[in-house]
Amino acid sequence: MRALVTGAGGQLGRDVVDALSGVVPVGGLRGSPATGRLGERTAWDVVAATHDRLDVSQRHDVLAAVEGVRPDVIVHAAAWTAVDACEGDPERAFAVNAVGTRNIAEAARRWEAHVVYVSTDYVFDGLAASPYVEWDRPNPLSVYGRSKLGGEHEVDPGASVVRTSWVCGFHGANMVKTVLRLAGGDGPLRFVDDQRGCPTFTADLAGALAIVTAERLPGVFHLTNDGPTTWFDFARGVLASAGHDPGRVTPIATADLDPPRPAPRPPNSVLDNAAWRTLGLPALPPWEEALERLVAALAVEGGHPG
Ligand SMILES: NC(=O)c1ccc[n+]([C@@H]2O[C@H](COP(=O)([O-])OP(=O)(O)OC[C@H]3O[C@@H](n4cnc5c(N)ncnc54)[C@H](OP(=O)(O)O)[C@@H]3O)[C@@H](O)[C@H]2O)c1
Repeated sequence: MRALVTGAGGQLGRDVVDALSGVVPVGGLRGSPATGRLGERTAWDVVAATHDRLDVSQRHDVLAAVEGVRPDVIVHAAAWTAVDACEGDPERAFAVNAVGTRNIAEAARRWEAHVVYVSTDYVFDGLAASPYVEWDRPNPLSVYGRSKLGGEHEVDPGASVVRTSWVCGFHGANMVKTVLRLAGGDGPLRFVDDQRGCPTFTADLAGALAIVTAERLPGVFHLTNDGPTTWFDFARGVLASAGHDPGRVTPIATADLDPPRPAPRPPNSVLDNAAWRTLGLPALPPWEEALERLVAALAVEGGHPG
């Protein structure tokens, strides 16, 4: 079986390529019931489409690439993920995130490939008091969220749509690396305590996506590591995992961010992994445990790989 992975150079894409190839991503868990079942399967023949090799916003390039590869499944992880920059350039956000997904869906339809589209908690406005299930009505606040929801509307009903949140991994830039970098300096560590979500670690998510891919699970899934937190508590967790004093972190309100962020964030984007659980699939590990693994992997590396 052959899989084409878009955005294969991104923090999630790199781990998806590993997971599908039968390699446990850095910081991942071998044999985990939630993510380790792939070990029992034959590894996929994986074609890693990095941004420089395939721009998903270019329809003819996408059609030609999929015709050339003839994948059984396309894991579509490519996106313009710069949430604040999207606010200033909606045309580009929609070209990549919505039209790019339209192009992937068209090519997949032509060659009968299953699509696994990675989407986001930012499709919700975050005003609900409880966690969001897959059937709750999206109402994105930001251009990024609207463009990713646009992508959800482009895939066929039988496709897999996997919404995730607060993504961190060994590769690429993310909040764990930001906190570790700031912890090395004398500057203030201030993080908001009025945004709640579920941190999700690419090594675990990639393993779960490999299950979605192998099973071609249709419909919308929320897939996050287990347990909600705030950015303030998460930053404290990062410091504690790295042996720093978590008391260095001060809580602030989103309204106190200086300068304010261009893109509004949902105050509550906790995703209930209801569809996954209902299928009898085990929860991804608690975020605290996944964080320990990532921080340990970064420490072994002796730095914070980009
Ligand atoms: N990061 C999060 O917190 C988060 C939360 C929820 C959902 N997600 C979703 O998870 C998926 C993976 O995100 P990530 O965290 O791995 O972000 P990432 O590290 O930014 O990876 C996205 C990849 O897509 C590539 N890309 C951008 N524009 C492209 C284009 N026009 N054609 C092809 N590739 C393009 C990027 O390449 P360049 O770097 O060269 O631009 C990058 O390699 C995305 O679908 C994202 O929307 C992320």
